[in-house]
Amino acid sequence: MTTAIAHPNIALVKYWGKQDKPGNVPATPNLSITLSNLTTTTTIQTLDSNAGQDEIFPNGVHVDDQKIAQFLSAFRSSFNFEPVKISSDNNFPTGAGLASSASGFAALVVALNEHFKLTLDREMLSEWARLGSASAARSLFGGYVALVPPLWQAQPLASESHWPLQVVVGISSQATKAVSSTQGMNLSRASSPYYSSWVRDAGDDFAEATDAINARDFAKLAHIAELSCLKMHSVMLTTTPTLSYWNSTTLTAMDAIRELRAQGTEVFFTVDAGPQIKAVCNPEHTETVEKVLAELPGMLSTVVCDLGPGAQIQA
Ligand code: DP6
Repeated sequence: MTTAIAHPNIALVKYWGKQDKPGNVPATPNLSITLSNLTTTTTIQTLDSNAGQDEIFPNGVHVDDQKIAQFLSAFRSSFNFEPVKISSDNNFPTGAGLASSASGFAALVVALNEHFKLTLDREMLSEWARLGSASAARSLFGGYVALVPPLWQAQPLASESHWPLQVVVGISSQATKAVSSTQGMNLSRASSPYYSSWVRDAGDDFAEATDAINARDFAKLAHIAELSCLKMHSVMLTTTPTLSYWNSTTLTAMDAIRELRAQGTEVFFTVDAGPQIKAVCNPEHTETVEKVLAELPGMLSTVVCDLGPGAQIQA
């Protein structure tokens, strides 16, 4: 039995759209921070080879998970191993825009690698995790992480200690999203009139965010990260059928964060394919930000995260 733990990451320069070729390759370079506190714990047990089939238990329930089954089948085409029981538990809502597939696939590849002694290095594990879910490639590393051409294996950009920002996650719904990221981004590529400009400008956004992180320039990172988020949601909203992931609390939280920033609080927001707000803060302002977000109508709970490490075997 082998157990791995991984944390979700949140993109500051977003990935929304794939290249038109096999391998689940993003259309644009993207950049994230890995969080602490929110955790996926995945345990692998070898089943009797007569068992025939893998057994997948996300959060304690036996399910027929096609995404994981497809991933295991691709992985087995390179590495032969017995049927497995996979138990995976999240300490946060699954499939609600909190990047559970990122931490899930990152923990899975690390656990399989150790359990079957495959000796894959972190870059190769990142590449395999990408096949499961492209954002998962980034959760192999801690701190600030880039997923870029030509190899599309994630690379560490800077450590957690380079710039120890904090994130207040504001949860305003526990519901699973109606349209998955994979389906949503395929619809966007096919129908949003803004998709081509989104792809065209992503390289510039990535370069500017990288400069801001290297220089620890909060105002510059705030500007580019909010812009990347709002451009991605503009693509989503102009997709047919429309992809509307926000709720009224998401919008109220964005306004509250803009207002705090206007008063001198170092904070910016980002939002993924779900309504949860992620407020990235200078740690000296985290308490203020959490208090404001927690009191907004419709806010169910808030969680404060530090930047966290990459996926690893549980000691
Ligand atoms: C909005 O990595 O979940 O969180 O590769 O199809 O599994 P697949 O998509 P996924 O998409 C993440 C989209 C996002 C933005 C981001 O994390 O960059």
